[in-house]
Amino acid sequence: MSQDIEVTIQENRLFPPSAEFVAQAHVNSREQYDTMYKKSIDNPEAFWGEIAETFTWKKKWDRVLNWDNAPVARWFDGAKLNITENCLDRHIAAGRGDKVAILWEGEPADEREAITYSELHERVCKAANVFKKLGVGKGDRVAVYMPMIPELAVTVLACARIGAIHSVIFGGFSAPSLVDRINDCACKLVVTATGGYRRGKVLDLKGIVDEALESTPCIEHCLVVKRTDVAHTMKDGRDVYWCEQHEGISTENDAEVMDAQDPLFILYTSGSTGKPKGVQHSTAGYMVGTFTTTKYIFDMKEDDIYWCTADLGWITGHSYFAYGPLLNGATQVMYEGAPNYPDFDRFWDVIERYKVSIFYTAPTAIRAFMKWGDEHVDKHDISSLRLLGTVGEPINPSAWMWYHEKIGASKCPIVDTWWQTETGGVMIAPMPGVVSTRPGCATLPFFGVNVGIVDDKGNDVEDGKGGLLVVKSPWPSMRTSIYGDEERYKEVYWSRFEKQGYYLAGDGAVRDKSGYITILGRIDDVINVSGHRLSTMELESVLVAHDMVAEAAVVGFEHEIKGEGIAAYITPTNDVEQTLENRELLRQYVAKEIGPFARPDQVHFTDALPKTRSGKIMRRLLKDIAAGKELKQDLSTIEDVDALHRLVASVTADK
Ligand code: WT7
Repeated sequence: MSQDIEVTIQENRLFPPSAEFVAQAHVNSREQYDTMYKKSIDNPEAFWGEIAETFTWKKKWDRVLNWDNAPVARWFDGAKLNITENCLDRHIAAGRGDKVAILWEGEPADEREAITYSELHERVCKAANVFKKLGVGKGDRVAVYMPMIPELAVTVLACARIGAIHSVIFGGFSAPSLVDRINDCACKLVVTATGGYRRGKVLDLKGIVDEALESTPCIEHCLVVKRTDVAHTMKDGRDVYWCEQHEGISTENDAEVMDAQDPLFILYTSGSTGKPKGVQHSTAGYMVGTFTTTKYIFDMKEDDIYWCTADLGWITGHSYFAYGPLLNGATQVMYEGAPNYPDFDRFWDVIERYKVSIFYTAPTAIRAFMKWGDEHVDKHDISSLRLLGTVGEPINPSAWMWYHEKIGASKCPIVDTWWQTETGGVMIAPMPGVVSTRPGCATLPFFGVNVGIVDDKGNDVEDGKGGLLVVKSPWPSMRTSIYGDEERYKEVYWSRFEKQGYYLAGDGAVRDKSGYITILGRIDDVINVSGHRLSTMELESVLVAHDMVAEAAVVGFEHEIKGEGIAAYITPTNDVEQTLENRELLRQYVAKEIGPFARPDQVHFTDALPKTRSGKIMRRLLKDIAAGKELKQDLSTIEDVDALHRLVASVTADK
């Protein structure tokens, strides 16, 4: 497979951090980075043990790392703690209770809150007590389906406070997706809101939850935050309002004593199979990992105003909104709505008003901003920015350069952070006060991350050659299992290089002579749409479940804004007319089944999918057709070449 990994990078520009940035950075010389990195690899237990000393523990660990049962790591084995005491109580005890933790802004801009650490603590304790009153306890699963409002952050932390395992489901998922996720881990409680604002419209969250709860027998209660005036119904005995449940509730809550290995949360993500996996992270390793990456990669300081634009429905929102920044005692912005509401300058307006100094967003957003035009940026003074970050997919050098010049005024380091839901925290990113950045390149590994680029057999490839990205030793924030299916965890991530004991990330990568690593994209059937991971298999299995569909092949293709777009090729069942209406119907059907963000950009009907004689669908060919590229493949092995020509002609006509 690795011979398929093409390397076509021709990017040599280097941007060193400014002297001013270097002077104040946590890590500010190559020697310091090298020394710390070397220690983290040679003696991980000493390295992470020292960092862990700074936290509040109810009982210290017996061993920093127990890898006896690889690939299941036991970080801080034997320790007892509660992560929320480290996010909240610890800062209050240190006299930082009046520091603002969250600067929240609703999409309607007049709705704002500044929540201090003391206030957040009180709100978390109260919600924790409400959850307990509703019968939720340690180890129970709680589904969370909410807009980006303060109650969402409170809910997640309140779960952690009582040892319940939160499973946040992104607000863009539809009812059938909710059903699968709620049932897979048998959630007892679902927390939602009446609605949420998005681009001036109100999302009917409660309506979607109601539809889902018809098929989720495990749910006992639905706790509803009154967010909007949208009409909704409440089911007697099951549905209760957040505000009513809070009446007369105590502000005190003794944090549950958790074992270092106890699961903190589950987050569903797509893999190369049809069924989403419940990625499970545990408490202590995740805490130490997200704290440390946040501190060093964002160069987080006491006075920073930090803003990560990710929704809590994704891992970025977990690690770099909910946990990492709070563990660091940071002040951060939380924004509910769309980047282009009421106008295209909303983000720059937010940055100006809150004097945001660290800004973390996704390449897809950057490309959209570029397209919307510089004039929206020019309206605002965004000179408070001192560091920029990106995550989710490879960033194309032109978007990187725009981000650097237009947003960063050519003075802010850009941290291009490579990581995954499974890794829990950033794995490869420039240390901002040390590394000269290069457009489109994630550069060097973070402390403790032992990256390898290998061939099919697990041998290191030469510098400059593409290969499979692996991680050769355990790191603290690594996921610990797939919920309820440890075997699948071992199979998916560890079986390919079982002999070597390597973690297979699923990305291709290349390392150059200076050690810089460039990510080349997924090597499996996972596509990345606007930084959201989708499995082509999952999309195909949804499509073939439809009456009109006999066979379906889904591929990603290059898309100007989204990074990848979705193209679905359908062989219809008999008598189905190959009309525009029917194609549109299938697009809407996928949006309804998975969520609007999964709606295919293109749906094409074909009499026969192009296959090799051995019956394998020629996906690369389908990608090229969708992207409107000239076909260079050898077509002689295709079963039905005429059908292919008809398909190409009709796709061209559709455009
Ligand atoms: C996949 C993980 C990590 C949070 C958001 C996505 C791709 C992620 C980068 C980057 C190139 C990247 C990879 C990875 N990816 N960040 N900086 N450069 N590719 O999390 O849904 O778990 O997806 O996103 O392909 O495997 P996710």
